[in-house]
Amino acid sequence: MIPMTSSVAEHRQIHPPQQLLMGPGPVNADPRVLRAMTAQLIGQFAPAMTSYMNEVMELYRGVFSTSNRATLLVDGTSRAGIEAAIVSLVEPGEKVLVPVFGRFGHLLKEIAERAGGEVVVIEKEWGQVFTLEELDAALTTHRPKLLALVQGDTSTTMNQPLKGVGELCRKHGALFYTDVTASLVGNTFLADDWGVDAATAGLQKCLGGPSGSAPITLSDRAVEVIRARRHVESGIDDGTTPRGTRIASNYFDLAMILDYWGPQRLNHHTEATSMLYAARECARLLVNEGMDNAVERHRLHGAAMVAGVQGLGLKLFGDQTHRMNNVVAVHIPDGVDGEAVRSALLSDYSIEIGTSFGPLHGVVWRIGTMGYNARKDAVMLTLAALEQVLRSAGAQVTAGGGTGAASEIYAEAG
Ligand SMILES: Cc1ncc(COP(=O)(O)O)c(C=O)c1O
Repeated sequence: MIPMTSSVAEHRQIHPPQQLLMGPGPVNADPRVLRAMTAQLIGQFAPAMTSYMNEVMELYRGVFSTSNRATLLVDGTSRAGIEAAIVSLVEPGEKVLVPVFGRFGHLLKEIAERAGGEVVVIEKEWGQVFTLEELDAALTTHRPKLLALVQGDTSTTMNQPLKGVGELCRKHGALFYTDVTASLVGNTFLADDWGVDAATAGLQKCLGGPSGSAPITLSDRAVEVIRARRHVESGIDDGTTPRGTRIASNYFDLAMILDYWGPQRLNHHTEATSMLYAARECARLLVNEGMDNAVERHRLHGAAMVAGVQGLGLKLFGDQTHRMNNVVAVHIPDGVDGEAVRSALLSDYSIEIGTSFGPLHGVVWRIGTMGYNARKDAVMLTLAALEQVLRSAGAQVTAGGGTGAASEIYAEAG
């Protein structure tokens, strides 16, 4: 028997500190979502479970603004959704075009390469987005099977316009996949109107839940491509002949996952029931709020945060005409230790703001107003605390400038 050390014996019930998460996500989950997660488990094929699955499909059609039947959950964090979409759509040797304007474009490239795709990248400087003309030119030159494009790249806080991209993809015979993990709900996203073939998300940003479930929607065109590669695993084989190139991942095989979520209910993984409860509650709250209202809530609180940081005398990073509503990148003032400011905010005020990656590391902080934290009190507290911490760090800040400027935005909004 392995002897138990005294420290193991002393482990207490989990009791995390209360923190206000105002970074680029994860953010605090809506308490109603946490409550939904504590509901008891039920059998995988129990009528209650299969109706919850159907309800999830219907609710997420509302969240993605689509009538796609194939709207469901992939179990895992947002990148599970990305992997499932790419590995199921792309066969080894097929061309994938990835326009990269931040870290998450690089992630799409890496995942497409691992799927065996022949990946072509076009790049933009961080802080910028692509024009439709640039995307059209790249599609004309490269003629890919799939265009894989991030909507909101959290690393730069830029929001790539997607309207018109689906049309371009159709013109060039490409499928259109987009990663909307950080932008969905905080910014307008219209899967059907914009001709999106596949989109994937996560719960931990504007949806107000924990990470661990990846909502996905697939157009009929995408489903056709995926079903043309259907290989049911031995042992649950339904007698149909396998077709096409087998999808390289079992766990992320969307052909099998669609069979599990479809009327066949062909067993695949054991659905992560508590995460399904969470995902259902996130979508239920949003559909009740109304998607346009949810986007407007993110726009308002994002605008108040932006006005507030500018009111303190801080400078914003990137092309502000294409900033996401729900997260802003703020230059760390000269002479200020960015990490020391983040630590002081956390230790003295229990408020977390985000650091940055790659070329922006040590250059900007990223401050989010999303999901459950897209609220006036969260914005005002963050600005008040940031003012004090910056002053202690020796930065020149306008007294009351942050909360004052944010209040004006709220007053204008009525
Ligand atoms: C745009 C974007 N895509 C993908 C991811 C990866 O998400 P996850 O950590 O949930 O796998 C993130 C996470 O921040 C993101 O912001």
